[in-house]
Amino acid sequence: MSKDKKVKEKPTDSKKEFLQDLTSFMQVKGFVWGPSPEIYGGSAGFYTYAPLGKLLKNRVEEIIRKTLHTQEFFEVECPIVMERKVWEASGHLSGFTDAMITCSKCNATFRLDHLLEEKYPESKNFKKPEQYLTFIKEKDIKCPNCQSDFKPEIKKHDLMMKTKIGIDQEAYNRPETATTTYLPFLRFTDFFRKKPIFGVFQIGKAFRNELSPRQHIVRMREFTQAEAQLFIKKELKNEFPKYKTIENDVLPLWDYKKQEKNQKPENNKIKDALVKGFFKSQAYAWTITIAYKLFINMGIPADKIRLRQHFPDEKAFYADDAWDVEIKTKSFGWIEVCGVHDRTDYDLKQHSKHSKIELEAFDEATGKKYVPHVLEIAFGTDRPVFALLDCFYDKKEKEQGKTTFKIPYHLSPIPLAIFPLLKKPELIDKACEIYNKLSKGFLCVYDESGAIGRRYLRAAETGTAFCITIDFDTLEKKPETITIRDRDTEKQVRVKTSELKETLRALIGGEKKFSELK
Ligand code: GLY
Repeated sequence: MSKDKKVKEKPTDSKKEFLQDLTSFMQVKGFVWGPSPEIYGGSAGFYTYAPLGKLLKNRVEEIIRKTLHTQEFFEVECPIVMERKVWEASGHLSGFTDAMITCSKCNATFRLDHLLEEKYPESKNFKKPEQYLTFIKEKDIKCPNCQSDFKPEIKKHDLMMKTKIGIDQEAYNRPETATTTYLPFLRFTDFFRKKPIFGVFQIGKAFRNELSPRQHIVRMREFTQAEAQLFIKKELKNEFPKYKTIENDVLPLWDYKKQEKNQKPENNKIKDALVKGFFKSQAYAWTITIAYKLFINMGIPADKIRLRQHFPDEKAFYADDAWDVEIKTKSFGWIEVCGVHDRTDYDLKQHSKHSKIELEAFDEATGKKYVPHVLEIAFGTDRPVFALLDCFYDKKEKEQGKTTFKIPYHLSPIPLAIFPLLKKPELIDKACEIYNKLSKGFLCVYDESGAIGRRYLRAAETGTAFCITIDFDTLEKKPETITIRDRDTEKQVRVKTSELKETLRALIGGEKKFSELK
């Protein structure tokens, strides 16, 4: 819910061409299909995760769960649909809108920020509808479709998706998981035995009725959020116990003053960033570090990540400190993938006021009640999936007919493929035996169709990390051996069948490099 001040990057021909290539790869190879439902023409902003895409999304979500659990955040699952009162209290019903303008002739409607900000960055600072209208008149800005004048009114487009509970109770599909996570606050205080700091998170669907959903699965109307909430007693924000564990970490920070001066982001030690006033608290510094690590753990290369501070007039109404994590993509340039917000005590106070239930914690040492603050890591799982596909889809060797999806091995949707060298019964029997053993511990496919070279190529296209081939040496020589072929180097190594499982586990888990195999 923030005013959008991101630098919009123009879609160049090479970006468009790459995106077209990438989306067709996603459709054909079974990563993402849509817009869905395709047989009815498709609704913009809705996509289907095909088998490989769903596996990849699951891997991303496994990493998020593991990273957050390691930092003592606990997962919960709250309802998606909530009654009107909740959204009145959260501020979404009145504040979650996009400003729009309509053409007087062709009736096409445009989001004002999309219409103006690229060409007229100064419009980012407009706060009132009249300012937009005067500006449009002064600059004689016309409808991009038919070059006619706009109607002299600014309308608000509501992003909330309405539904009903029972016969006629007004309700909404949640526009964020965060609000639904705050509501069981009193239950949490019991569960966490009145600790002054605790963390919870949700991974689940959220809905925003975007006027013009764009950029494939980057901006959808139905999407998967992953949002972590750290509840903390205000006084502990600058006496944060885990701060020591990250104070010397380095983050690529792009504060708003550098953005204003068109300067690049700079690597800063966390403790220096606090001295410079980039972050207001140790707890916020820790939270943003966890956000950064989430994306590193998801396999996004560090040189494609930057942290962008919000401008003072850009922050959402509930946010004190606010930074975004951004990832550089080949399709769209830099995209926002996460917002880290200090939401202060805004949400708990709002829900106390509207529900008339005091959402307070009890400090046993002082015997006093207090309203904790909330620090939020707000992101989703669709954008990281897009970023991984964008980053690791590799079609450089087009002329050789070669496509490789060089996703880090631990994220590979199907990490192993098992092949008999030829379609001979004795090789097939052995390959099936190996497949049955390996499939108990790994997700793998068995493939006997086509020449072995074609099968290696097929596996590389879908990101499969290692191919296991059973040949005549496997059957004839003792001790029994098998070949492992590495996707990225295309090299093969023979290993003892008895050591296969352990070797693969180490290779996929990253404890061993392929080059270390003898
Ligand atoms: N929970 C913050 C957001 O959805 O942007």
